[in-house]
Amino acid sequence: VIAHFTPKVLAGKRILITAGPTFEAIDPVRGITNRSSGKMGYAIAQAAQEAGAQVTLISGPVALPTPRNVQRLDVQSAQQMLDAALTQSTTADIFIATAAVADWRPAQIAEHKIKKAEGESTPQLNFVENPDILASIARSTTAQSGRLYCVGFAAESDNLVEFASAKRKRKGIPLLVGNIGPNTFGQDDNILTIFDDSGHVELPRASKRELAKQLLQEIAKRLPKN
Ligand code: CTP
Ligand code: CA
Repeated sequence: VIAHFTPKVLAGKRILITAGPTFEAIDPVRGITNRSSGKMGYAIAQAAQEAGAQVTLISGPVALPTPRNVQRLDVQSAQQMLDAALTQSTTADIFIATAAVADWRPAQIAEHKIKKAEGESTPQLNFVENPDILASIARSTTAQSGRLYCVGFAAESDNLVEFASAKRKRKGIPLLVGNIGPNTFGQDDNILTIFDDSGHVELPRASKRELAKQLLQEIAKRLPKN
């Protein structure tokens, strides 16, 4: 009720969000991907728009409608997501990386569909590491100059506090949002833990929509004043 009458917390801010999985092709009809419904990222995009921000959503393949008044750019691979994010980030105030980026991609993409053949061995895949989109943007001059506030996500299967605090420092970002997976995948609710320079605080179980609003409040109060 109170929030309804206060000024919009993100009025005039430009927010860039990555969401969903990436898809890394093996051949024209096959590929590898990560488990991610995109629901958390899409909920944040919608909540940010409602909080007055101008929102760009860079999305991997998901089965979700585009939130109202949000600019959506569809991509497939991590490399495409990185290219779009680097371009868009130069004019953004906040970058939120919710995407489940494939850590590796097949070293080669077969030009033609790989066929089964009697008596032949199964195909062997070799992988190369994908670029780290969040770390790349956190290292960019836009972020380093203090103009872009970067937020990461981490789904861990255990040891959340230890792994998430280490990940925040490794990526060089002021804020990282952790949750325990894989039980949250595709669900409509979640529990989030927010890690910053001074420790961590839990946002108790709620709908992804409610958590998105709370997270944006937490981000807004940490933005550099100008
Ligand atoms: N991320 C990214 N690009 C990648 C890998 C991760 O932008 N190539 C971002 C994710 O969107 C998320 C954060 O980094 O915001 C953490 O992702 P996560 O997979 O938990 O971290 P990794 O560094 O890949 O470590 P690992 O998977 O080994 O735990
Ligand atoms: Ca990863």
